[in-house]
Amino acid sequence: MCSHLFYDLDSCSRLWILSFLKVFLFFLLERIIRHGPVFTQEPSDSVFPLSAEDNKIFINCKAKGSPAPHYKWKFNRTDLDIDMDYSLVEGNLLINNPQATKHGGVYQCIATNAFGTILSREAKVEFAYLQNFSSKARSPVLVREGQAVVLLCGPPPHFGEIRYSWIFNGRPSIVVGDNRRFVSQRTGNLYIAKVETSDVGNYTCVVRNVMTNTTVYSSPTPVVLRRDGQYLAEIQLFENLRVQKKSKY
Ligand SMILES: *[C@@H]1O[C@H](CO)[C@@H](O)[C@H](O)[C@H]1NC(C)=O
Ligand SMILES: *[C@@H]1O[C@H](CO)[C@@H](O)[C@H](O)[C@H]1NC(C)=O
Ligand SMILES: *[C@@H]1O[C@H](CO)[C@@H](O)[C@H](O)[C@H]1NC(C)=O
Ligand SMILES: *[C@@H]1O[C@H](CO)[C@@H](O)[C@H](O)[C@H]1NC(C)=O
Repeated sequence: MCSHLFYDLDSCSRLWILSFLKVFLFFLLERIIRHGPVFTQEPSDSVFPLSAEDNKIFINCKAKGSPAPHYKWKFNRTDLDIDMDYSLVEGNLLINNPQATKHGGVYQCIATNAFGTILSREAKVEFAYLQNFSSKARSPVLVREGQAVVLLCGPPPHFGEIRYSWIFNGRPSIVVGDNRRFVSQRTGNLYIAKVETSDVGNYTCVVRNVMTNTTVYSSPTPVVLRRDGQYLAEIQLFENLRVQKKSKY
């Protein structure tokens, strides 16, 4: 009866019904037939800015499977205890009060159901930060008029993109780069060519972390002009000592 009905249809309609049934069965079976987990979202490498307001971060992970998978995580290749610092929100890992030294490292998600266990790729998690400069005083830099001088910035420990600038004789006077002055964005050092008397003063290196939007200031480096007179006086002294030594022996 049924088969008669089916064969009464023209071949085009039959083909259409068959392919429809195939697709329908495929979706039905996938839902009904139990299968091991498969990732739909794996954790990815990330850099998180560390700032006072932002005290929670998520690392994402999601898998499909039947029955629904449950999740665990690995940190630096060892199983992670879900404790005060961590919680699970579905597959996602939530880190409370993240700290660079405690929570920076490699994370992996594990999804398990009765039919299997899968381990995700390794996701490198890093934190952008910028420490303070040492408050130690910086020694004066002596330079003769017309000469060039390099002032070293020596940035404090940091991670994430940073920008350098310099302040002259206290805020808000920023050293503007021109044909004599240049701030290296690689080292932070300030180069001054053909020093003039107006260059004499205190220079402070300013470092800003773009990701955390934090700024730190070095202690000032005084730039002092070394007068030729002073230099001559030193030669004089040196000559005098030599003369004295000669006359002694
Ligand atoms: C985790 O591993 C990273 C290197 O991948 C290391 O820098 C970090 O200190 C480790 N973290 C802990 C808490 O052991
Ligand atoms: C860095 O210095 C600022 C002001 O100079 C201070 O308020 C802050 O507490 C210092 N931070 C650290 C981590 O020492
Ligand atoms: C540079 O700083 C020192 C000490 O902080 C201060 O005595 C001096 O007057 C400053 N120089 C200038 C030109 O502001
Ligand atoms: C960065 O900080 C400064 C002041 O500290 C503020 O004016 C500025 O809006 C901040 N920028 C961002 C992107 O948060």
